[in-house]
Amino acid sequence: METRIQKAIEILSRSRLTVALTGAGISVESGIPPFRGPGSLWDKIDPMEFAHIDAFMKNPARVWEVLIGSMKTILDTARPNKGHLALAELEKRRLLATVITQNVDSLHQKAGSRDVIEFHGTFAKLTCLGCGHRTSSADITLTTLPPRCHCGGVYRPDCVFFGESIPLSALTRAQEFVSQCEVMLVVGTSATVQPAAMMPILAKQNNARIIEINPTPTPLTATSDLFLQGNAGPILTRLTEAIAIPAGP
Ligand code: APR
Repeated sequence: METRIQKAIEILSRSRLTVALTGAGISVESGIPPFRGPGSLWDKIDPMEFAHIDAFMKNPARVWEVLIGSMKTILDTARPNKGHLALAELEKRRLLATVITQNVDSLHQKAGSRDVIEFHGTFAKLTCLGCGHRTSSADITLTTLPPRCHCGGVYRPDCVFFGESIPLSALTRAQEFVSQCEVMLVVGTSATVQPAAMMPILAKQNNARIIEINPTPTPLTATSDLFLQGNAGPILTRLTEAIAIPAGP
């Protein structure tokens, strides 16, 4: 493992354009359960029954009660962990251009990352289905479900449900980075949900090096140039601490 860590440090230090692709795994150390794997969210509830846009439109109260409400309770208090902070530090040192995240928890932004592409939208904001008014999730209570706007319309979270497309701006910007990056750090994703899972494949086709960080192998691992097996927090901290701070301007 140490040899691979050293190799990753060398690759990251030399890269002129590095991007990160993150998934739920990077937020596990912040107390947010992943969607797949032992003790995960989809182990408990069926995503097609509660995380599909058709299910939400048919019975928003139920989806708010079973899925969104429990997510809100966790997300309202979750704090960034060392993994998020390490990526923000790499960006500050101009060693990371952007984070393409599948997460809706805003923890990259809370850690200080400035360039974050929210591939699956965000839970931080809600939009009224009636009049389009946007509000912060943190500003609403769950006393009545579904939460409603002053106009009486139902609020929906600004995250992407199954059955919905990726926000065009996020997709376009992610593809621009993926076509030009020299290195992609893939952290904490099961690499199973499209089109996010295509991003490392497209990067690889453009001759990028793929460094994957995950405690368990994924369908991407065979394609990755380096597989750093373990938790995101300690590994990203180790990488960031070891990468020399570039000399001044
Ligand atoms: N550090 C790094 N990776 C971890 C950690 C950790 N501490 N703990 C778990 N993991 C890994 C798991 O091994 C798994 O491969 O994180 C991954 C989490 O996978 P998923 O739960 O499937 O999360 P993700 O890949 O982001 O899911 C993609 O699916 O349901 C949709 O919209 C949802 O954005 C989500 C998308």
